[in-house]
Order: sequence, then structure tokens, then C-alpha cells
Amino acid sequence: MTTSPQNPVHDLAGIGFGPSNVALAIALEEWRQAPDRPDLSAVFHERQEGFGWHRGMLLEDATMQVSFLKDLVTTRNPASGFSFLSYLHHAGRLHDFINHKTLFPLRSEFHDYLAWCAGRLSEHVRYGSEVTGVEPVRDAGGRVWAVDVVAREAGGAEHRTRARNLVVAPGLEPRMPEGVGMGERVWHNEYLLHELERLGAGAAPASFAVVGAGQSAAEVADHLYRRFPGAQVHAVFSRYGYSPSDDSPFANRIFDPEAVDAFYTSPEPVKDDILGYHRNTNYSVVDPDLIDALYRAAYQDRVLGTERLVLHNLSRVAAVEEGPDGVALTLDHLPTGKQVPLRADYVVYATGYRPVDPRRLLGPLAAHVVEDERGRPAVGRDYRVATDDEVTCGIYLQGGTEHTHGISSTLLSNIAVRTGEILDSLSARTPAPA
Ligand code: FDA
Ligand code: NAP
Repeated sequence: MTTSPQNPVHDLAGIGFGPSNVALAIALEEWRQAPDRPDLSAVFHERQEGFGWHRGMLLEDATMQVSFLKDLVTTRNPASGFSFLSYLHHAGRLHDFINHKTLFPLRSEFHDYLAWCAGRLSEHVRYGSEVTGVEPVRDAGGRVWAVDVVAREAGGAEHRTRARNLVVAPGLEPRMPEGVGMGERVWHNEYLLHELERLGAGAAPASFAVVGAGQSAAEVADHLYRRFPGAQVHAVFSRYGYSPSDDSPFANRIFDPEAVDAFYTSPEPVKDDILGYHRNTNYSVVDPDLIDALYRAAYQDRVLGTERLVLHNLSRVAAVEEGPDGVALTLDHLPTGKQVPLRADYVVYATGYRPVDPRRLLGPLAAHVVEDERGRPAVGRDYRVATDDEVTCGIYLQGGTEHTHGISSTLLSNIAVRTGEILDSLSARTPAPA
């Protein structure tokens, strides 16, 4: 950190303190511990009041979709004290976990692991600090050598962090179908547990509709079906049936660091092909065990004549109208073109997520970002956003790089290695202490 009386200049400011930037903070911590290295100072801004990883979807028995070995550190530094195994050791569950013989812990356990890591780095984080903009800091020649990260904090107070590098890691935002807004009875799955909590412990809704056929939709349908034994759960999707995620070993290589190299150097049409071929490792697909559980439930319903899990396949929601007592949906049945009315107490859209566009946060700096021919930010292999010559500070992205670095961009798989690469780039650009 460079200090002047009013404006300390940090080496790095981070937007968001989810798994991506927690992993970067760990990499920095390990960097500091090595001898003969300049200190690199960092401040991370996180809008939540404390650490939280998709809390609204922290369903009791949902499991991870990735091996625990792809934690925040192991693939970068297997000897790190921030690994999932170190966490288990600390929690006194290492042997129990080994006996469990699984690579896929509960999401709630992984959340606890992430929170354990974040808790050890709290001196570098400002929680309850929502970044509202970024302002350029110019030198005498007009070049942007640093940024001021502007954040709104408790009571509306403004806080500014000046830094020579910015790492933008704001994650994903819920995606609703065009023209559909969230409401009292129309939710996105991202907020499921918060919305159910709002209904109160004694609530006993009679019906739900769940739109979508991805992992979120399947988990939500399963959760609602089991949590509300008196309720009907209508699953609405345009496929014929829930389809399994491809978790087979060769296909899984698409998440390896080498795949990032191959993707990064591919021409655009090849990138499109790769994303198309391997879309079913991640998007619109469901863990096979969960598909089996849902099928078992639907079959059991038929045997018992209860029909609580109702599948509306090959169907799309054509209209949705929220009223004081429920939601009126109109479904298009795709094979026949018939319109089918459906009433539900609550509708959960599990229609996916989109990465936050970093340019939204960059303020006047967004105009300096170089775009590719499709209008997306150009990004270096080191995750540094390409800018015009006026900007000399570093702006790095964690997430939002599927178009340049491939399908692992929004996932945990490559976070450990990616943070090492960002740190290498950033430290190489940091002036040695005088
Ligand atoms: P993430 O979204 O986790 O964190 C971003 C953080 O930035 C948030 O804490 C947010 O509050 C903060 N933020 C945003 N804007 C801000 C602002 N303006 N100012 C300050 N803070 C701001 N992947 C995988 O590989 N395996 C898995 O098992 C799963 N499971 C999974 C479950 C569910 C329900 C979802 C929705 C997603 C997954 N994922 C996943 C994918 C998921 O993207 C991934 O696990 C990580 O959350 C990515 O971490 P990030 O830190 O990049 O984003
Ligand atoms: P997703 O995979 O993108 O699936 C979205 C679903 O919504 C698809 O079925 C899609 O159908 C449908 N859809 C999209 N737009 C629609 C519209 N306008 N109208 C109707 N349907 C629409 O999203 P996701 O299930 O939320 O998964 C996102 C990521 O989160 C994945 O990486 C997943 O692994 C992860 N996740 C992990 C866990 C876990 O770890 N346990 C839990 C939940 C999610 P089409 O295919 O027809 O477009």
C-alpha cells in the first residue's frame, strides 16, 4: 500500500466477496507469507452484512455439483491451510467425511467451509458495503493510473477505496423471462428460502408452479414436494423430461485449466461449438440422482392416486397474472398449440442466471473498455479487461468471461487456479518498493 495523509492507495480493490474473491484474498495471504515479496494490500467490498453463498438456495440436503477437491485452493496450492480438508480437520469431521466416501459434500457444509475461509480474512473485507460506482483517478498526463471504488455503507454513508487494480467479481444475477416481474407470489428460486420464511412456519400453501428444468428447478420442485405434504407441485418446462448433467470424466475435462487455454485461443466459431457441445455439463440439466428421486415421487403418486407432483412437459408459460389469492398462469402446450389454464398459490421461476455485466459498475471507465465484434468486453488471458491507452490501472474479471475463457467462468472448478493467474499478473505489474 502507498500511503499519503488523505488517500492510501491499495494495490487491489475487490467488488464482491463471494468464493472468487475469497479465493483471491487467500492467494494474497499466501503470497504475503512467502519471503522477499512486496506486501500487496487489498480491500474487498461485499454488500451482504456477512459472508453468504446463495443463501436463498441453501436447501437442507442439496449437494455440491463439483468435487470438494475443487475448493478455493487445492488445485493451485495443495499444501494450503485453506483447503476443504483443512476445514474438515478443524471441524473435527475429517475421519467421518472420509468414511462417507463422497466427493460431493452438502452445499450447507461447503457454505460453512467458505464462511470459515472468509472469516479468517475479515480484516481485508468491508461487509455491508455495496459498490455503486468506480471513478477514474488520473495523473498529470490524464492517464487513469488508479480507481476510486465508491460504496454505500450502513446508514447511507459513502466509502471510497483508492486502488491501482480492481478485481470485479459480482457473481450472477437471477434471470426472469422477459416481461415477467417478481412479486409477492411470483419468485425467482434465488430467493426461495427467504420467501418461504416470509410465509411463516405455519403456512400450508395448496399449490406451487415451478418453471424450468435445470438443477435449480429440480431442487425447488423436490424441496417443495417434500416440505409441503399437502401441496401440489406443478413443474412446467419445454423439454420432454428432466435431462441428466454430463459428469463423465472426458467431458469433465472441459473444466480443467488446460481447457481454458484451448478455449481462449480458439476462433469465435470454435468457441461457439465448444460451448454448444458441452452445454449439458452445466446448463438446463439435473444431477441424475435427483432425477431418480423426482421420478420415484411421481410414480409413487400414481400408485397412490394422489398426483402431487404434476409434470407439464413440452409446455411454456404464455401468461402469468398475480392476484391477491393466487397466480393465474396460461400454459402453451407446444405439440398441440392448446392453451391450458393453471392456478397456483405461488410460482417459482427457476429460469437461470446471468453474469453481472462489469461495465455497469465501471461508471465512466466503461467507455474505455475494448469490445469484441459482438459488443462484449475483450479480456486478456490473465483476466485483465482490455482498455484503451488512457487506462493504465488493472481491471480484472472473475466471472463474466464465458465468451473468452469458457464454461468454467461462473463456476467453482477453476477459481483456485484463476486467482493464482490473476495474482501473477497483478504482482508483475506492481512497482517494486523504493
Ligand atoms: P458469487 O455470486 O458467489 O459472489 C459474488 C458476491 O458479490 C456476492 O456475495 C454479492 O453479494 C457480491 N456483490 C455483487 N455486487 C456487488 C456490489 N455492487 N457491491 C458489493 N458486493 C457485491 N458452481 C459450482 O462449481 N459448483 C456448485 O456446486 C455450484 N452450486 C451453485 C448453486 C446455486 C444455487 C447457484 C445459483 C450457483 C451455483 N454454482 C455452483 C455457481 C456459482 O456461480 C459459483 O458457485 C460461485 O458462487 C461463484 O462465485 P463468485 O464469487 O464469482 O460469485
Ligand atoms: P439453468 O441451468 O440455466 O436452467 C434454466 C432453466 O430455465 C432451463 O430449463 C431453461 O429452459 C429454463 N428457462 C430459461 N428461460 C426460460 C423462459 N423464458 N421460460 C421458461 N423457461 C425458461 O439454471 P439453473 O438451474 O439455475 O442452474 C444454474 C447454475 O447453478 C448451474 O451451474 C447449476 O449447476 C448451478 N446450481 C447448482 C446447485 C447445487 O450445487 N446443488 C443448485 C442449483 C443450481 P431451456 O433449456 O429450454 O432454455
